Amino acid sequence: MYQTPLGLKQVLTTPLQPIQWPRLTGNQQAWIKRDDLNHPRIQGNKWHKLRLNMLAAQQAGCAGLLTFGGAHSNHIAATAAAAYDYGMAATGIIRGDELSDNQQAWSATLKNAVALGMTFEFVSRSHYRQRNQADWMAKWHAVYPNYYVIPEGGSNDLAITAMADVMAQINDQCPDWTHLLCAVGTGATLAGLAKAAPNKTTINKAVWGIASLKQAEHLIPQIETWVGQPQSNWRLLSGLGNTPFHGGGYGKTTPEITAMQQQFEQHNDLLLDPIYNAKVVYAFDHLLAHNAFPEDSRIIIYHSGGLQGRSD
Ligand SMILES: Cc1ncc(COP(=O)(O)O)c(C=O)c1O
Repeated sequence: MYQTPLGLKQVLTTPLQPIQWPRLTGNQQAWIKRDDLNHPRIQGNKWHKLRLNMLAAQQAGCAGLLTFGGAHSNHIAATAAAAYDYGMAATGIIRGDELSDNQQAWSATLKNAVALGMTFEFVSRSHYRQRNQADWMAKWHAVYPNYYVIPEGGSNDLAITAMADVMAQINDQCPDWTHLLCAVGTGATLAGLAKAAPNKTTINKAVWGIASLKQAEHLIPQIETWVGQPQSNWRLLSGLGNTPFHGGGYGKTTPEITAMQQQFEQHNDLLLDPIYNAKVVYAFDHLLAHNAFPEDSRIIIYHSGGLQGRSD
């Protein structure tokens, strides 16, 4: 039986690894915050997003966790692992009813999740689109009474609060950082980092979120609500000039992004996921090439994990 190595209140300090990258000029420095190493199974932002929610579910005496996602969702993978490790039941409401009786077509994410004890409810895409409606949720509450509901992507206020621990580590490890780059899916990770970032220092600090999806601007009002202020110490970047950073949209990529990912992995002896962090590294290189960082910048890339997505 797998031994749970971390308590839900325990946060490992992960390394801030200097980045080796030919495009950095003499007076720019860059690091990667290795939160892919923050938990043996529930890596990166997923561990932070889940741990306070798991604690709340346990404290409320909930019977299990109920959450949503697509067949390749990192969040479904992480929730299944968290439920297993911390002894809770879990059900995933999965987009795509065609998967319900076709286990052959399941992604590695779904296969692993079911092996960890997660059960699934497969729903059609049109049904899934109703997930933010109260009566849709009420129906699932009736089927799963006393289950703790975690929204899609694990993005809620507790997830945002938890990201403050990452910011505290970064401030300790590199107090004079100027730019922090992170991947954006729902924007909760960006919001949590920006909310916790010091904004009354003599050094300008900004958190830049790199959109992994097309037309991400619709996320801005929600991110503003989460952060509690409009884009000031944070920005959502979808691209630069004619170059988008999303590689064609969520779950898609380009040969340029893949090549950049491989180059960065080799230079820095680490792995990146193709959906989120590869696009951040691509943006990092592109921003450097276009002098988007002033001289003397101290740039940090937040490695948000998701490595399980490499096998999907
Ligand atoms: C590995 C990884 N990085 C980044 C993100 C984006 O996080 P958020 O949805 O909080 O923007 C996700 C998705 O949640 C993810 O799985």
